[in-house]
Amino acid sequence: MCGIVAYIGKKEAYPIIVKGLKRLEYRGYDSAGIALLNNGELNTYKKQGKVANLEDFTKDKDCSGHVGIGHTRWATHGPPNDVNAHPHASENGNITLVHNGIIENYNSIRQQLESKGYVFKSDTDTEVLCYLIYDIKTNTGVKLGKATRLALQQVVGAYAIVVMCKDEPNKIVVARKSSPLVVGIGKENDFYVASDATPIVEYTKQVVYLNDDEIAVLNKEKGMKLFNIDEDQKEPYIEELELRLEAIEKEGYEHFMLKEIHEQPRSIKDCFRGRLNAEKGWVSLGGIKDYEQKMIKANRIIMIACGTSWHAGLVGEYLFEDLARINVEVEYASEFRYRNPIINENDIVIAISQSGETADTLAALELAKSKGATILGICNVVGSSISRITDAGSYTHAGPEIGVASTKAFTAQVTVLTLMALYLAKLKGTISETKFRTMLSELEAIPQKVQQILDKNEGIKLIAKQYKNASNALYLGRGSSFPVALEGALKLKEISYIHAEGYPAAEMKHGPIALIDEEMPVFVIATSGPSYEKVVSNIQEVKARKGKLIAVVTEGDEQVHSIADNTIEIPDTDEHLVPLLATIPFQLLSYHIAVMRNCNVDQPRNLAKSVTVE
Ligand code: F6R
Repeated sequence: MCGIVAYIGKKEAYPIIVKGLKRLEYRGYDSAGIALLNNGELNTYKKQGKVANLEDFTKDKDCSGHVGIGHTRWATHGPPNDVNAHPHASENGNITLVHNGIIENYNSIRQQLESKGYVFKSDTDTEVLCYLIYDIKTNTGVKLGKATRLALQQVVGAYAIVVMCKDEPNKIVVARKSSPLVVGIGKENDFYVASDATPIVEYTKQVVYLNDDEIAVLNKEKGMKLFNIDEDQKEPYIEELELRLEAIEKEGYEHFMLKEIHEQPRSIKDCFRGRLNAEKGWVSLGGIKDYEQKMIKANRIIMIACGTSWHAGLVGEYLFEDLARINVEVEYASEFRYRNPIINENDIVIAISQSGETADTLAALELAKSKGATILGICNVVGSSISRITDAGSYTHAGPEIGVASTKAFTAQVTVLTLMALYLAKLKGTISETKFRTMLSELEAIPQKVQQILDKNEGIKLIAKQYKNASNALYLGRGSSFPVALEGALKLKEISYIHAEGYPAAEMKHGPIALIDEEMPVFVIATSGPSYEKVVSNIQEVKARKGKLIAVVTEGDEQVHSIADNTIEIPDTDEHLVPLLATIPFQLLSYHIAVMRNCNVDQPRNLAKSVTVE
C-alpha cells in the first residue's frame, strides 16, 4: 500500500513525480503529496483524495525544482486528510520524507521524542521517523545518509522510504525493509525512485531493486552509493527492465479492468508460451525443474495466498490432487503465519501472488523458509519480493495488472497451476498419455475460447442491467467451479459494493437457502461434467424459492436453459479447465454492474492493489 515516487537530477521533478504517482494510484488513493527542493527552499503540497486533487491544488503554486519526493497514500495510522498526507517533515521543516509500510514501535519512539520536547502535528508513524532522523542528525552532526541509517536501526516494522534534506540538496536517501523500492538509473546521475517500475520505465530501463535492509544515497554529483543498514558498502546490482510502456496504458479502453479482461486470450497464451507443445506432447516448467522430484514425492504441498490468488490456489488444489495425486492444502497466508503451523524440510510451500509483495504472503513464506520448507512462488510481477526470496518458481507473464480488481492475473495463475499439475502428473505417471495429450490440446485452445466468451460482451451487459440494483447476490459452483463462485462473488462486492457470497452449490441448503426470494440473483456454474445433474437439482431448489437464476452453461445446454432466467454459454472444454472459461462472464458481469452503478471500477473505495501491510 502507498506509492512512492522521487526524482533527483537535471530535469524538473514535478511532472515526473506527478505522472509517476498517477501510475501508482492503484496502491492507494486516500491522499497525495509532493515536496520539491529548489534553491534552498522546500515546497510541500498535500491534498486529501486523488493525485488529480493535488494537481488542481498546485496549479498556481511554485512547483520548480530538480529534486523531489511524492506519495500516494492508503491510510493506516490516522484518517485520510491533508495533515496525515505525506510527505512529512521534521519540526523545523529541514528534513522531509515519504514512507510506505508501518513503523510498529512508533509509539515508543514518539514518547521518547516528546520527552525531549518535540511536538507532533500528525497521527502518523511516518512523522515519528522523520523527527527521529532529524534528532539524530542534529545531535550527532552526521550526514543525512548516516542519520537515516542510525534511525532505521531503531525501527521495528516495514518501510520503503525516501528522505530529503534542505541542508544537503544534492542527494536523496532511500531505504527498504519489506516494502518494495526500485531505483532507476538515468543518463548522468539522474535517479528515479518508485514503489514499482511503472513510473520509471519511460525514462530508463536500468534499475536496481533494493533488498531488505539496504539503504542508498543518490547524489546528483557523485552517483549512487549502496549500503547495508549496518554500514557495509556494496555494489548495486543493475538489472534491465523488460516492461513495455504500452502495457501500462489504457490503450483506448474506458477502464484498466476492461482492458485487462479483454487481454486474457493473450495473457493466457503468454503464460503457456514455450511451456507446452500439444503436438509433441510435452509440458516444461524450467523454474521448478530442480524441485520436481521433491514435489512428486511430497507428502503434501501447501499453497498460501490471499484474496483472488487464494481462489486460484483452491483451483490448484483440485488440479494437483486429481491429476497428480498430490495432497494439497490451501491456506490464507494471514492465518497460516499466526497458527504455529507444523512444517518441516519435507514440505513444499507455494506462494501465489500477483504483486509478489503481499505482506501476509511474504511473511508466511519467510516463516515456512525458517522451518526448512522448500518455498516456491507463482508471481506476476518480475523482480518482486516474493519472487526473490523463493527457492524457485514460475512467473505468470500476464503483464502489468493495474485495475485493483484482479482479472487476468487470476486466469494466468490458474494456467500456471494447470501446467504444474500436468507436469507433475506426467512425471509421476498418474495421467494416461491420451488424457495428457487431450488436456494439452484443450489448454492450447483456451485463449480462443476465452475470446468467444468476450465476444458475447454485449449480451452479458444486458444481463448486468437486469441485476444492477440488487443488494445481495449468491454465487454457486461445485468442484473446481466452487472457487470460481468465490471469485465471482469477490469481484462483484469489491467493485460494485453489492454484498455477495460464494458457496459450494450443495452447501446452499445448509443455510444460505434461507436468503433466497424473488429479489435474490443467484449466479450458478452449471457446465457439463460429472456434477451437472447435482447442480441442476440445486438450481431447481433456487427456482422453487423464486430466486433469479443466472447460469453459466456449456454451449448447447437445454436443460438449465429452460429453467434459468438467464444463461451465458461458454465453449465446451475438459472439466479441469472450466474455471479458466467460467470466470470470464463473472468478470464482465461485475464490471458492467459496477459501471452502471457509477462506481470507480479501477480504484474501488478502501482498497489498494498491493497490500504491503499486515
Ligand atoms: C481481488 C484482489 C485481491 C488480491 C489479494 C492478493 O480482486 O485483487 O484479493 O488478490 O490482495 O494480492 P496478490 O495476489 O498481489 O498477493
